[in-house]
Amino acid sequence: MDGMFGLRVAVIVGSTRDGRFGPVVANWLLTHLEQREDMTFDLVDLAETPLPTVFPAFGRPAAPGTAELLATVSPRLAAADAFVIVTPEYNHSFPASLKNAIDWHNKEWHAKPVGFVSYGGLSGGLRAVEQLRVVLAELHAVTIRDTVSFHGAWTRFDADAGAKDPAADAAAKTMLDQLAWWAHALRDAKALRPYTA
Ligand SMILES: Cc1cc2nc3c(=O)[nH]c(=O)nc-3n(C[C@H](O)[C@H](O)[C@H](O)COP(=O)(O)O)c2cc1C
Repeated sequence: MDGMFGLRVAVIVGSTRDGRFGPVVANWLLTHLEQREDMTFDLVDLAETPLPTVFPAFGRPAAPGTAELLATVSPRLAAADAFVIVTPEYNHSFPASLKNAIDWHNKEWHAKPVGFVSYGGLSGGLRAVEQLRVVLAELHAVTIRDTVSFHGAWTRFDADAGAKDPAADAAAKTMLDQLAWWAHALRDAKALRPYTA
């Protein structure tokens, strides 16, 4: 479903590392989104849309080359009703590539829900997600309670990119259902009363 009632979900792939595992996790999530009648998705892969780490001075526009790069990302974040961030854990946090993409934007996050699918070694990216909640609160976003996490992620998927443990599929449904509730609630509320904070 699309248009007025369908929810537009931007799926953000946070890792940009050469040889990264992120796309395996993201593609699994997309199989869930493809099955939903209440959502359409846009895959925002930060490896395909790299943004510089140097910011313009306050009040100054981005340099022309940077503006072109931002044009490949910012309108897509602005158009989203909701986000799912796919993030690994790097040194007990989330990758710098993801923080950079978050920091380039502000109103694009306001009054929108954010769900998480995380992965990593022992922690399954749980620490990355908890730190993202703090950052996104500053940006007026609402983070979804239930997450999906993959510990020892490289052992958790079969050859067809399906999750070996059906509990992961159940967790994805729970997270996406909560995301849908918040996305509808916030979209309806914004239609009634614009979020101007
Ligand atoms: C710089 C770096 C730091 C890492 N730190 C952690 C960590 O603190 N905890 C953890 O569970 N895994 C850690 N890992 C393992 C990653 O979560 C795992 O390799 C994951 O596949 C990385 O995501 P990517 O393949 O999409 O880049 C780290 C990996 C890298 C590259």
